[in-house]
Amino acid sequence: MVNVVLGGFYGDEGKGKIIDYLAADADITVRYSGGNNAGHTIIVDGVKFAFHLIPSGILNKGTKAVIGNGVVVDPKVLIEEMKVVEENGYSVENLCISNKAHLIMPYHIAMDRLLEELRGNGKIGTTVRGIGPTYCDKYERSGIRVGDLLSAKFEDKVRENVARKNDIFRLYGREEFDAEEIIKEYKGYAEILKPYIMDTVILLHNAISENKKIVCEGAQATLLDIDHGSYPFVTSSSPCVGGVCTGTGIGAKYLNEVYGVVKAYSSRVGEGPYITEQKNEIGDTIRELGHEYGTTTKRPRRCGWLDAVALRYAVMINGLTGIAINHLDTIGKLDKIKLCVAYNYKGDVNMDFSTDQEYIDECEPVYEEFDGNFGDISNVKSRKDLPENAKKYLDRIEELAGAPIKFIGTGAGRENMIVE
Ligand code: GDP
Ligand code: IMO
Ligand code: MG
Repeated sequence: MVNVVLGGFYGDEGKGKIIDYLAADADITVRYSGGNNAGHTIIVDGVKFAFHLIPSGILNKGTKAVIGNGVVVDPKVLIEEMKVVEENGYSVENLCISNKAHLIMPYHIAMDRLLEELRGNGKIGTTVRGIGPTYCDKYERSGIRVGDLLSAKFEDKVRENVARKNDIFRLYGREEFDAEEIIKEYKGYAEILKPYIMDTVILLHNAISENKKIVCEGAQATLLDIDHGSYPFVTSSSPCVGGVCTGTGIGAKYLNEVYGVVKAYSSRVGEGPYITEQKNEIGDTIRELGHEYGTTTKRPRRCGWLDAVALRYAVMINGLTGIAINHLDTIGKLDKIKLCVAYNYKGDVNMDFSTDQEYIDECEPVYEEFDGNFGDISNVKSRKDLPENAKKYLDRIEELAGAPIKFIGTGAGRENMIVE
């Protein structure tokens, strides 16, 4: 049984929380794309964890936490994260890192920064974690993989890459890198990470043949997908369902449930189109009520209403079998809630989502209004026991999305969730 949890909007929908729930009876959780641009929050017994690289399932004792081949790994960040897990009394012995995952090197981070500066006003607003440049090298076929850390060829690969990158940094008057320093630093990381590096494809397929339960943990989200998102304001990987197959080596026929996570409102970090954004008091109120500040970069998140047109697109692109809606408690604190039910494109009202910026710029969101004031719903355990106002809102979302709601977040804690 292989289930997938992925982002339905622009990220930060609370994927970590849903994965943590599903990990309780999973044998394996596996990250399939992205790197430490992700920030997945889990709150267990009041203790807050923010995972950037380690799959959220690490907190569950018998569950293996796999970093799949589609992930880009900054070993320094990974080792720091392993320490935090251990300092909080959990073990990292279940961590497995694909030998085929690509390494984020210091020059990738410098390149990410340089490219953003060169873009000027057209900047993407990346997390500056070196994600884009690392994927560039992967596809250009000069990347260095985690498995290379243990190979005799590692030193030459670093020297070759550093020489080429320094040509560019020199051109722009930037500080150059010393290959020998990087080799020394990364060899230190290799010593620590060695026991966890393996061919995770074999591990995953052995588990599948033993009918074990695997949960694939998405990072980023549908509208940040390199192909299906709001290009160029996207990340450099495939957070959509297709990324599961390439990023883990699990074939499509093994996938069962595909859950898309959204919030009962919406948010976005970084630049790019966002049709339901509320650049006003409402957006500010949602940001404060939902504590919408980046888990990774601490940037204030842009906030707005839930966009059912975009949600329907996420259902379509990913073949979602279920939806998770978090922060129902947060939106329920407002008196009135709006839901975008269609786009008005020059008088043509429809549900055609497009990531084309020029089209989106011409579209006006069409809203329906709902009553809020849900009261304290944090301990409600069944959808039918929710207040009528909340039920009406959820029913309409489900109708427009075209997929059933399976999880409802009623608070930030592990226990604040309705499972249908
Ligand atoms: P992810 O990147 O998709 O895992 O999401 P983030 O962790 O970046 O952001 C989600 C935020 O919402 C975190 O601070 C979570 O603790 C919080 N959260 C998740 N679900 C709920 C919910 O149902 N209610 C409330 N109040 N907070 C939630
Ligand atoms: P999780 O997994 C929200 C955004 C960045 C920027 C764009 C490209 O926590 O949902 P990158 O550094 O990837 O090249 O930046 O993508 N972005 C995210 N936004 N949540 C994330 O991850 C994100 N990962 C990247 O803000 O707009
Ligand atoms: Mg996040």
